[in-house]
Amino acid sequence: MGRVLCCVDDSDHARAVARYAAELAGALGHQLVLVHVAVSTHAPGVSAAPAGRRRLHEAELRDATELVDRVVAELELPSDLERRAEIGDPADRILALCEEADVELVVLGSRGRGSVKSALLGSVSTKVAARAPCPCVIVSGHAAERLATT
Ligand SMILES: Nc1ncnc2c1ncn2[C@@H]1O[C@H](COP(=O)(O)OP(=O)(O)OP(=O)(O)O)[C@@H](O)[C@H]1O
Ligand SMILES: [Mg+2]
Repeated sequence: MGRVLCCVDDSDHARAVARYAAELAGALGHQLVLVHVAVSTHAPGVSAAPAGRRRLHEAELRDATELVDRVVAELELPSDLERRAEIGDPADRILALCEEADVELVVLGSRGRGSVKSALLGSVSTKVAARAPCPCVIVSGHAAERLATT
C-alpha cells in the first residue's frame, strides 16, 4: 500500500491540511502518515553534557509526538494512521521521509506558524515543493480556510 505523507506544524492551517490529506489518502486507498519535525533547540557549537543533550532530545521528541497526537485527536482522524515525530531541519527531514519507497505523495500547507507573511510559500513548503522526489500537494491558505469551514 502506498503512503501519503502529511506534514503538520502547530498552526490552524496545518490542521485543515491534515483533514484534507486524510480525505485524499482515503480516496486513493493509501495509508496516511502524519509527521511533525521538531527543530532542535540544541545550538551547534554549544556543548552540553551527553546526558543533558539526551534529555533535551527526548523532550523535543515527546513534544513532537504530542503535537501529532493532538492533531489526530482534534480532527478525529483514524487512530491506525502512522505517526512520525522527528528532530532536525523540517524540510530536510521531510525530504528524507519522501525518499522512502512507498511514499506516493507529500501534502503541506503553503504557510505555517512563521512570521514572514510577504512570500507566497514558507521556507519549508518552498524547499519541499522544489526538491521532493514524489509529487507534492500544497494547500494554500485560502483553500485551507475553505476546507476548515466545510
Ligand atoms: N516543523 C514542521 N514539521 C512538519 N511540517 C511542517 C513543519 N513546518 C512547516 N511544515 C509544513 O509546511 C507548511 C508551510 O510551513 P512553512 O514553515 O513553510 O511556512 P511558515 O511557517 O509560514 O514560514 P517560515 O517557517 O519559513 O517562517 C505547513 O503548513 C506544514 O504543512
Ligand atoms: Mg514554519
